[in-house]
Amino acid sequence: MSNETIQWHAGEAFWESPANIALVKYWGKYPGQLPMNPSLSFTLRESVVRIRMKYAPAGNGPGGLRSFALNGKPNDKFRERISKYIDSMKAYYPFLKDYGLDIESQSTFPHSAGIASSAAAFSALAMALGSIESGLSGKEIMDSGFLQKASFSSRLGSGSACRSVYGGFTVWGKSDHLPGSSDDFAVKIDDSAIHAAFHNLQDAVLIVDDTEKKVSSTAGHALMNGHDFRESRIAQAEKNLGNMLQALKTGDEELFVNIVENEALTLHGLMMSSRPGYILIKPGTIALIEKIRDFRQQNNINICFTLDAGPNIHLVYLDKDAGRVRPFIQQELLPLCKNGRWMDDGVGAGPKKK
Ligand code: DP6
Repeated sequence: MSNETIQWHAGEAFWESPANIALVKYWGKYPGQLPMNPSLSFTLRESVVRIRMKYAPAGNGPGGLRSFALNGKPNDKFRERISKYIDSMKAYYPFLKDYGLDIESQSTFPHSAGIASSAAAFSALAMALGSIESGLSGKEIMDSGFLQKASFSSRLGSGSACRSVYGGFTVWGKSDHLPGSSDDFAVKIDDSAIHAAFHNLQDAVLIVDDTEKKVSSTAGHALMNGHDFRESRIAQAEKNLGNMLQALKTGDEELFVNIVENEALTLHGLMMSSRPGYILIKPGTIALIEKIRDFRQQNNINICFTLDAGPNIHLVYLDKDAGRVRPFIQQELLPLCKNGRWMDDGVGAGPKKK
């Protein structure tokens, strides 16, 4: 955008954006935050970050982040990360060179609760930047180009964030199985390619442990560079993606469950077999996995688990099974959770302008 088109004024953008949970995992990246393998996730409904971004002409000072508050309090750690991110975005949103930003962020879920808050936060930031840019140019259009740019920009903040700008199911990373897929941004899987059985997929996030994890995702990704299983992991993810797209399309529940659990255990297997190796799951994680598998076998109901880079379990089930699965969660799984804590989530519709 050239300076001629900027209408100099102050204002604010207020966006809410969700976290997502990967069914085929992004693990390992190349410089420029480009993924080693394609990944697939669904966007959550309840676990969201809200970003209020106030902007005002910077006058003679440099544009960029002026203040940052998380849940009402200043937060130096996040302020620094977001300030660097905003500076890096000046190349894509030139108005940032001339405007100061005051950002307030709030999340509906606790930090370290097994949900990647960075995916929600960076997608919300990118949506806010895009809407300020289009507002300043006088034409606020939220078309597919807007979402693609938001996905591209979110990716540069945190890789998995690029999948959160769409509702439903999303793929990030170039794959022969999905025309139009890209390493630069995520694409939404058309709802018509998702069987009705999966439209309302449920996700019970079961909290085993909420302490800060010992190894960050960023450090974990880096350990994939020299990993013994690197090439076979890349091939496995590609194969799992193809089969997952097939399962989602045809409503093949057994294939779905198979891939979801294979991906979750592979992710943690890759962590354990890194050099140095590390373990993020806890005894409580294994106890929940055993309960979930026993329930599936005994009741012939296709529930399954997945894991992020942490010990907490995401129990994924179809809404048609909710009547049988919910009492199981309450009676058998919550007693194994830390202080009985869990979050009742599921597929959501994507970011919202407030
Ligand atoms: C295990 O997106 O948090 O959740 O790109 O370094 O910010 P950075 O990593 P991040 O990694 C997420 C990894 C994962 C799997 C996934 O979401 O696909």
